[in-house]
Amino acid sequence: MKRIEWACRSHCSSAPTRRRGTSTALTWFWCGQTTTSRGAGVAMLTLPKFFARPLDKPNSHEPNKETAVASLSVNGKVVTVDVDPQMPLLWVLRDELGMTGTKFGCGLAQCGACTVHVDGVATRSCVLPIADVEGKKITTIKGLSPTASHPLQVAWIAEQVPQCGYCQSGQIMAAADLLARNPKPTRQQIVDHMTGNICRCGTYNRIIAAVERAAKNT
Ligand code: FES
Ligand code: FES
Repeated sequence: MKRIEWACRSHCSSAPTRRRGTSTALTWFWCGQTTTSRGAGVAMLTLPKFFARPLDKPNSHEPNKETAVASLSVNGKVVTVDVDPQMPLLWVLRDELGMTGTKFGCGLAQCGACTVHVDGVATRSCVLPIADVEGKKITTIKGLSPTASHPLQVAWIAEQVPQCGYCQSGQIMAAADLLARNPKPTRQQIVDHMTGNICRCGTYNRIIAAVERAAKNT
């Protein structure tokens, strides 16, 4: 186990020592501290070593300069990016490709906001190194339907599911994975499948209703 601390630049008063990556909304750093939590913007976490990827630029704000060209299939188009092979897919989607429909929530595979499909399987893109998705088919919320007419998208509108909306692209991608495997899920199967996707606004009942509606209409 390795203790690490995440800090948001807008909340953490410590001088960040290692840059972790950026998203459009926030810039996150490994601040390198091991002291106790300072406030709401700082989370002290104890995580398996799995999540703590090595960084070889201590005491630097510069990102890792060791990059490589990766070829990806995103929403049916082949794109190439020249990035650190360990950069998470979410960072590539948002910061390199400008596809901000996929959201950054926790960055730790805990909330589901970043869910995309990799070869048709709902996957947390925030912890998936780009090196692991070369040659695989990635589908984001933008690729679910070119006309936003996927039964889930139609049902989401009919049920007026979103409140703030932040979690919703991840919710829909998770639900799409369920319906692809099980077109007529029971309510309990929907609940079980969607459990890992967090909604801070508490739209869970409307999410379930929308998945049921979409299942009925397909
Ligand atoms: S941002 Fe990926 S699971 Fe929370
Ligand atoms: S609608 Fe606000 S977090 Fe889910």
